[in-house]
Amino acid sequence: MSVRWCAGRRALLVGAGAAGLLTACGDDPAPPSTAAPQQAATTATIPSPAASLASTSDVPVGGGTIVGDVLVVQPVAGTFKAYNAACPHKGVKVSPPKDGVATCPAHNSTFAIADGARMSGPATTGLKEIAIKVDGSQIEPA
Ligand code: FES
Repeated sequence: MSVRWCAGRRALLVGAGAAGLLTACGDDPAPPSTAAPQQAATTATIPSPAASLASTSDVPVGGGTIVGDVLVVQPVAGTFKAYNAACPHKGVKVSPPKDGVATCPAHNSTFAIADGARMSGPATTGLKEIAIKVDGSQIEPA
């Protein structure tokens, strides 16, 4: 039973001169919150510049690892890149890549980890690159 239904019923009953029957609405749930609805996050959570994303030893050559909302990859030995892990199709987080390709588990869009480009699937764009730097063995946001 919803509050709207009750309000409509109340108006109907009052209009019919049956105001004494309004107690029937007493079992309605609490009225809806008047707080503004929260919007879904549309951006990735990027660690602060001081925080390390990963150690270079955590990122396999030709593959990568997911750190929060960030995909950290090593397309070729010694080259590291990072992307927003959210698939540009519907925002599902891509899986850690294998053999240079990241795949979205939702609808199988695929992306080249060398440059984030879309390879196949319903996504119409590639992964969004995130600037990083390598400091010794640590991969950090730039
Ligand atoms: S959400 Fe990734 S392909 Fe649909």
